Amino acid sequence: MFCLTVDDDLKLCLLEERHAAALFELVDKNRRHLRQWLPWVDLTTAVDDSQAFIQSALQQFANNEGFQTALFYQGQLVGMVGYHPIDWPNRSVEIGYWIAADFQGRGLVTRASYFLVDYAFNQLELNRVVIRCAEGNSRSAVIPKRLGFIQEGVFRQHQAHYNQFVDLIVFSMLAEEWAG
Ligand SMILES: CC(C)(COP(=O)(O)OP(=O)(O)OC[C@H]1O[C@@H](n2cnc3c(N)ncnc32)[C@H](O)[C@@H]1OP(=O)(O)O)[C@@H](O)C(=O)NCCC(=O)NCCS
Repeated sequence: MFCLTVDDDLKLCLLEERHAAALFELVDKNRRHLRQWLPWVDLTTAVDDSQAFIQSALQQFANNEGFQTALFYQGQLVGMVGYHPIDWPNRSVEIGYWIAADFQGRGLVTRASYFLVDYAFNQLELNRVVIRCAEGNSRSAVIPKRLGFIQEGVFRQHQAHYNQFVDLIVFSMLAEEWAG
């Protein structure tokens, strides 16, 4: 498996199709925890859906649009962090993340996000990294704040989430601000 090493316990790995069952099992076990904030959870109903996600993630990487990685903590698949497709003309990218409920509270997503932000600036030579969180998702919003991102504003009713439109808070970091 192709992995980036964050530290002794935490690796960020490209998923392969053989991981589809493990990824689906993780989503399925964490359905209630994840669906509150992530619109794709109800659409993930079978291993085939996780397999299709892995295929599209590998295609994204092959297209030079950035990558999605699985969080492996002490060898165990516990969540995902990754880039939305890179906006190359504007050298900008958005980061997304989720982790299984039982693995919250250990700083894994903060450490993984730090790694991806640093990679975006220092390896991909991008100029801007964005993190957007739904209004009310304070557990998520604290991550860009911890990393020193600036809160830019709110995209009002930007995301259709089940039966309502939710506001998204936009945080950003610029290359010139990133100390690394
Ligand atoms: C949002 C989400 C990823 C945050 O997970 P998390 O575990 O709180 O985030 P981290 O892994 O960065 O852990 C931070 C916690 O670890 C603690 N911590 C321990 N060691 C740490 C370290 N080295 N660095 C930072 N934090 C550390 C922090 O104090 C914090 O604790 P707290 O929960 O008591 O506040 C998670 O709640 C989730 O997956 N939610 C559902 C999906 C979702 O909302 N995704 C985001 C959509 S925008």
